[in-house]
Amino acid sequence: MPDNKRPYVICHMLPSVDGRIVTRDWDLKNATREYEATAATFDADAWIIGRISMEPYAGKARVPARKNRERIAREDFVAPHDATSYAIAIDPSGKLRWTANDIDGEHVITILTESVSDDYLAFLQSRSVSYLFGGKSRIDLARVLRKLRARFGIETLLLEGGGKINGSFLAADLIDELSVLVAPVADGSIGTPALFDAKEGRGPARPLKLTGVEKLKGGVVWLRYKVKR
Ligand SMILES: NC(=O)c1ccc[n+]([C@@H]2O[C@H](COP(=O)([O-])OP(=O)(O)OC[C@H]3O[C@@H](n4cnc5c(N)ncnc54)[C@H](OP(=O)(O)O)[C@@H]3O)[C@@H](O)[C@H]2O)c1
Repeated sequence: MPDNKRPYVICHMLPSVDGRIVTRDWDLKNATREYEATAATFDADAWIIGRISMEPYAGKARVPARKNRERIAREDFVAPHDATSYAIAIDPSGKLRWTANDIDGEHVITILTESVSDDYLAFLQSRSVSYLFGGKSRIDLARVLRKLRARFGIETLLLEGGGKINGSFLAADLIDELSVLVAPVADGSIGTPALFDAKEGRGPARPLKLTGVEKLKGGVVWLRYKVKR
C-alpha cells in the first residue's frame, strides 16, 4: 500500500555486472543514453543524489563570510522558482558550492542538518537555492521525504545514487521500486562504491519481486523490481 504522505521512490541505477557504479573508465556511451532514456519513462517530479555524486553538477562558487553576525533561524527555505521538477542533494554539512539554483531547468533543493554554518545558509539564500532541514546532526530520510511531498508536491522521486545514499534509503526501507540497467562491463574494483553501501558486514538484505526484464541497445539489460513488504 503506497504511503501518500511521501513520494513513491524508484531507485534508478547503472551498475556493472558486479554491482559497481563508478562509470568513469567504462567507455559505454550507449549505456548512459539508455540510462537517461529509461529515467524519462518514469515521468518523475524530482531526482535525489548524495553529496559526492552531486559535486560535478554543483560548481565551485565561493562561500563569502558575512559581515552581519546575526544568527539565521534553522527554518526550511523555499526560494522563488517556477520550475515544476527538482534536483535534490543530500548535503548534511553544507559542502556543495552551488553556482546556480537549477540543473538543466530543474530547481535545486538541498537537504541539510542544523549543524551547517550561518554563512552557508546566507550563501544558499543569496543564490536562491532552496533548502530543507533533515535533522539536528543527522538526516532523517523519512522526515525529508514527507517534507518534499508537502512543500514541493513531489509524488514520484528517482533515487539516483551513489552507493551511500542508496544504502541509507534501503536500510530505512524507503525504496518502493528498483530499476537497474546492468551495463555490459565487469568492473573488478575492490572498495569502490556499489549499488547499495548500507553498512559494513551484514546488510539489510531486502527481498525483491522481479517485475520486468528487457534487453536494450548496447548489451544493456534493464531489470525492474518491486521491494517486497
Ligand atoms: N552508475 C550509476 O548509476 C551512478 C549513479 C550515481 C552515482 N554514481 C557514482 O557513485 C559515486 C559516489 O557514491 P558514494 O556512495 O561515494 O557517494 P554518494 O552516495 O553520492 O554521497 C555520499 C555522501 O552524501 C551524504 N549522504 C548520503 N546519504 C546520507 C545520509 N543518509 N545521511 C547523511 N548524509 C548522507 C554524505 O555527505 P558528507 O560526506 O558530506 O557527509 C555522504 O558522504 C560517484 O563515483 C558517482 O559517479 C554512479
